[in-house]
Amino acid sequence: MSEVVAPIWDAGHPEESYTLLARQIAALAAGEEDLLAAVANGVALLARVLPEVNWVGVYRAAEGTLHLGPFQGAPACTRIPFGRGVCGDAALGRRTLLVPDVDDYPGHIVCDPGARSEIVLPLVRGDRLLGVLDLDAPRPGRFTEVDQHGLEGVCRAWLDALAPLLRPDRARALFPVLGS
Ligand code: SME
Repeated sequence: MSEVVAPIWDAGHPEESYTLLARQIAALAAGEEDLLAAVANGVALLARVLPEVNWVGVYRAAEGTLHLGPFQGAPACTRIPFGRGVCGDAALGRRTLLVPDVDDYPGHIVCDPGARSEIVLPLVRGDRLLGVLDLDAPRPGRFTEVDQHGLEGVCRAWLDALAPLLRPDRARALFPVLGS
């Protein structure tokens, strides 16, 4: 386990660091039989490795609403309707939203007043939106297109590694959209 969560970040080579992070999050999920444990550990890895991030977590989609899932950071809003805030807009549009300054985003939902920039990535499997991955940072402009590209790769690798656990019988408790 220790080699999986060893610090890997090289600020001078973020693309390579994201490639390694994608491998690490997949390795952490591989062989796990409990989806909640695997998702919680993946979030913990992101929180441990990524510099200048003060909140990272998963919101889970169910019937037009996002529900708080495993996260690291300050207590947060537990439910966000699709189409509200950065998370709800990313869920509705099923696309990554990169927000350099949350004060400039109409409808941004303040959970932690210390958050100044944000990136939200949709977690999509087949035709289903499982939820979103949300990251907040304490300074404006923390996330760039390099981070967006890198984190999209991390999400792909993570969902691929979690695939055996995303069968309806094993996954509906965490991701209700997989229940039917
Ligand atoms: N800022 C988000 C709400 C979630 S918290 O940042 C954890 C939003 O506008 O959707």
